[in-house]
Amino acid sequence: MKKIEFLNLGSHPITNSYLSTKKPKKEFMYNLKLIYHSSTKLISLGKFVSPKKMFNDKYAHRASASKTMRSAYEKLAKSLIKTYKPQSILEIGSNDGCFIKHFKKINNIGVEPCKNLADITSRMRIKTYPNFWTKKLSKKIINQNGLFDIIYSANTISHIHNLKETFDAIEISLKKSGIFILEDPSLLEALKKNSYDQFYDEHAYVFSLTALKNLTRKTGLEIFKVEKLNTHGGSNRVFFKKKINQKVQISKKYIKFLSDEKKFGIEKLSTYRKFARNVKKSKNALISIFRKIKNDGKIIIGYGATYKSSTVLNYCGLKNNFIDYFLDTTPTKFGKFTPGSHIPIYQYKGIPNNVRYAYLGAWNFKDEIFKKEKKYIRNGGKFITHVPYPRII
Ligand code: TYD
Repeated sequence: MKKIEFLNLGSHPITNSYLSTKKPKKEFMYNLKLIYHSSTKLISLGKFVSPKKMFNDKYAHRASASKTMRSAYEKLAKSLIKTYKPQSILEIGSNDGCFIKHFKKINNIGVEPCKNLADITSRMRIKTYPNFWTKKLSKKIINQNGLFDIIYSANTISHIHNLKETFDAIEISLKKSGIFILEDPSLLEALKKNSYDQFYDEHAYVFSLTALKNLTRKTGLEIFKVEKLNTHGGSNRVFFKKKINQKVQISKKYIKFLSDEKKFGIEKLSTYRKFARNVKKSKNALISIFRKIKNDGKIIIGYGATYKSSTVLNYCGLKNNFIDYFLDTTPTKFGKFTPGSHIPIYQYKGIPNNVRYAYLGAWNFKDEIFKKEKKYIRNGGKFITHVPYPRII
């Protein structure tokens, strides 16, 4: 198998390490490169950052921070209870309990290596293992709790470096009829939207269905159904069953999605070379937009100090001279500075009257934000985005 680098996005910090000071003495940086794996068609980072550096007791992201995510998890929980009538469920990467809390009536268990988050769900009386997902941990959990009807994991499997061990640990934890549901950003959508900000330290991989199919070839799991989601800028919800369970049919839609990926060129290296060219163009166009507004002496704020935006800011060299400050609704980010770019983050209390330009860090919540900011837009306020191409809206 060949591993081929197709894009070098330069030097980047850990997206989750929001700073307490504008001028840190030392900041960990690594080279963010993107790699194409010729045999599995997997797209990964060139170099992985140590999990202990990224997932610690100060982890900032809260799944409950957005209304969109809160209602998406509630809707999914209701539908899973209705369709599968599970007696037991395990969530890998249970964050602040936004999903798993909906299963209080059955055996619901969380796995969450970030201690500050695991503490939240423990306080909610949800049995939570404050550990990384490994085969060893899965054996301990099965010994203490038995096998599971459902294992669910949203925006987590793409963070785990050893995929073979991850899938094997899931397989041994499921009942024969059990299912595993994975939700992660879709590579196809990232390529279509030119959203290169899906790549950052935590996202060791951005999965295509094609790669997931290839990766599980040597495991006891196989995909039987896929749903397309709008969350996180376009995600796949992928349902796996055990290969030994012959009762479940493989959905036609999944086969169609696989062929859509093939038609788009997801298997070809040339697709990624073209993506790399588009990303470089996007950088130049975005910088020109910022420069023009700043030359007119206007304020530009950032809306949502997301992990994704860290890739854009650091790749494009957008620092405090381009973005005056970020507004965000996540309390742990208030009063901090964005990693690498050192831009202050303030608590969102509405967009101030003197602001006319806001860079959409949380572009994946565009609809929710535009609804919330009707007054700002009515008064002539504009948003800047780089997705799918740099422009002012
Ligand atoms: P998220 O979507 O999880 O993106 P990432 O994984 O790239 O960090 O983060 C969304 C962030 O945006 C979160 O910090 C909350 C913030 N946010 C706002 O400040 N205002 C809003 O209206 C919304 C929807 C999000």
